[in-house]
Amino acid sequence: MLSRAGAAIRTQAAVFGRTGAPAEVVGVRTAEMPTDAAALGADGVAVRMLAAPINPSDLNQIEGTYPVKARFTAGQAVGGNEGVGQVLSVGRSVTDLRPGDWVVPQRAGELGTWATHVLARRSQLAVIPAAWRGGLVEPMHVATLRVNLSTAYRLLRDFGAPAEGSWVVQNAANSSVGRAVVQVARAMGLRTLNVVRDLRGQPDRLPRLKAELRALGADLVVAESELLPALRGLGGPAALALNCVGGRAAGLLARAVAPGGWLVTYGGMARQPLALPTGPLVFGDVRACGFWMNRWYEAQGDRRERDAMWQWLLRLAADGGLRLPPMELVAWRDGLDERRALDVVRAAVGWQEGAKRAFVFGGA
Ligand SMILES: NC(=O)c1ccc[n+]([C@@H]2O[C@H](COP(=O)([O-])OP(=O)(O)OC[C@H]3O[C@@H](n4cnc5c(N)ncnc54)[C@H](OP(=O)(O)O)[C@@H]3O)[C@@H](O)[C@H]2O)c1
Repeated sequence: MLSRAGAAIRTQAAVFGRTGAPAEVVGVRTAEMPTDAAALGADGVAVRMLAAPINPSDLNQIEGTYPVKARFTAGQAVGGNEGVGQVLSVGRSVTDLRPGDWVVPQRAGELGTWATHVLARRSQLAVIPAAWRGGLVEPMHVATLRVNLSTAYRLLRDFGAPAEGSWVVQNAANSSVGRAVVQVARAMGLRTLNVVRDLRGQPDRLPRLKAELRALGADLVVAESELLPALRGLGGPAALALNCVGGRAAGLLARAVAPGGWLVTYGGMARQPLALPTGPLVFGDVRACGFWMNRWYEAQGDRRERDAMWQWLLRLAADGGLRLPPMELVAWRDGLDERRALDVVRAAVGWQEGAKRAFVFGGA
């Protein structure tokens, strides 16, 4: 909403002043944000957010359990670590961004993305050129590019370089990362054996998940209790196992990996330590390690490999090969009164299994 002078807009952000249960500690801050080049500061960029996911790591950050700590300024931090926005205006020394360009955070933990608008410094933003988009690319693909989609890509590329036709086994295959793994693996010529939870009392769930993942290109989908029999029919062990769960579920994956193969842990949804069997590690030389996308980004000397990966993923999306996971879209419209905005935010960040959510900003 432009003010009369056109120099400032009313913005809202999901903020927290202390760590704790997200639905309890999160609040809404309404403020005026300058958009005039002169008021932005030399390297300032005013951004209107388009979409931002609510990732488990964002919630862990608010809880205080994530290694990337929230940045408190004047006692408040803005939630959210990824998302996509559109440049509204730039400060005088910013020569490589123009209004309308799409941008994403350069690093985690610097810009809170759960906000209708963000005032950033140029160095905090990475641009997504229009030439990388097109076809079937949606704002939500770009909003989730930096974390989940890139994680799927790196997990499949960086551990033992499985040969075409190799099997990759993963748990939490119905997660957002898991669904990306299925599709990226297919595009790379790999086969996937996908494990989902046995949940009692939900008889329709398993057939539905099997159908959904098969439609994305999964070769096999099994419940955890079906994994060991399924391995016997695989025709050989997997080259790579991707563990998002931890606990006993990680141990099951270890039994599926070929000697010398990798068991890579990237998530800990069960919040339990890995229970790994000794045999596969000692006698099978299975290499168990962890992966963290943030560490990969920080280790990059230049951004060429990152940009090549992002282009590859967006090309896959443009061609229809990277469908978004089911998400509950939370509309955060401009001009909401603070009480209403708080209801929207609290409902969105309340931890609830099985419901991936994302904010979609703008509109009256
Ligand atoms: N290392 C990295 O760089 C990196 C990058 C991206 C994501 N991650 C991590 O990957 C994980 C998934 O992220 P996401 O965005 O894909 O999440 P998501 O879409 O919300 O999916 C969550 C998944 O976790 C499963 N799950 C939830 N609670 C569980 C439990 N108690 N035991 C077993 N499975 C459980 C869910 O299965 P049900 O449907 O059966 O509930 C679902 O498959 C998170 O831990 C996230 O932090 C790590």
